[in-house]
Amino acid sequence: MSRPRVILDVDPGHDDAVALMMACGAEQREELELLGVTTVAGNATLEKTTRNALRVLSLAGRPDVPVAAGAAAPLVRPLHTAEDIHGESGLDGPEIPEAVSGRDERAAVAFMADALREAPGPVTLVPTGPLTNVAAFLRSHPGLKKKISHVSLMGGSVGLGNTTPAAEFNIYVDPEAARQVFESGLPVTMSGLDVTHQAGAGTAERERLRALGEVGETVAGFLDFFAETYESVFGFDAPPLHDPVALAAVLEPELVEVRSMRVDVECESTLTRGETVCDLYGVTGKPANAEVALKLDREGFFELLYRTLEGLRG
Ligand code: BDR
Ligand code: CA
Repeated sequence: MSRPRVILDVDPGHDDAVALMMACGAEQREELELLGVTTVAGNATLEKTTRNALRVLSLAGRPDVPVAAGAAAPLVRPLHTAEDIHGESGLDGPEIPEAVSGRDERAAVAFMADALREAPGPVTLVPTGPLTNVAAFLRSHPGLKKKISHVSLMGGSVGLGNTTPAAEFNIYVDPEAARQVFESGLPVTMSGLDVTHQAGAGTAERERLRALGEVGETVAGFLDFFAETYESVFGFDAPPLHDPVALAAVLEPELVEVRSMRVDVECESTLTRGETVCDLYGVTGKPANAEVALKLDREGFFELLYRTLEGLRG
């Protein structure tokens, strides 16, 4: 089977940073082709998320991966950030050096367009932040939609929220963009909180990461910080590796158990804005528009994480 060609659209963010590292490691193992990274405002401002993406790629020994900055704010709403979870910089915790390379001169949408045009075959988008860039891309380049094989996103949930009782962060921040992506007709895999909460990195997992070497130690350090905020904000004993699950669903689809269903995004209600209304029992009769991940092979997921991070140089 040919390896998936991927563009990661991120707002690092601790778990985005782990997803970036995982992508670099998977590429090194020839399990994926990383065409580039686009950044979006979400966990922190665009300036910070772009700086963080560049720093993480340098740390992973991949300053050559193009990073194109995208939307500085959601489509129609003011930006809501998550310093309570990710700290002031968007990636607080261990100090890591500044990047040895700069951002791509193209904006995210232009970069995506070039990458899709140049790719010899279909490309998978893996968005792990608010869906602003992806929605803007679909609107501005409808002719290139056919080059996208699949969108594997982290966002939403069938049940609970983490930013309001009803809404998960990525969808809450830009619900209009999310609605456009779910209604785009593209195949969408949604890894929401139902499944990402099964990817908690407890002390045992962090110890195992530390044993992998310099990169693993830094990742464990990030997750120690993430563990503290997740403990104080949510009372969790292990911080969830949300974003890496969306990438794992591309690298090893069998790690997630999915169910086809209709997902509509609430954009109007002040109470439930950003809720992904998942028609688990098909009661609306509307056609399914997403494969919703419900169950994670936790052990397999962590083995994939260790395997991909292992070979990365610090
Ligand atoms: C999502 O929100 C962000 O804080 C994380 O990076 C993840 O993408 C989880 O709700
Ligand atoms: Ca994220």
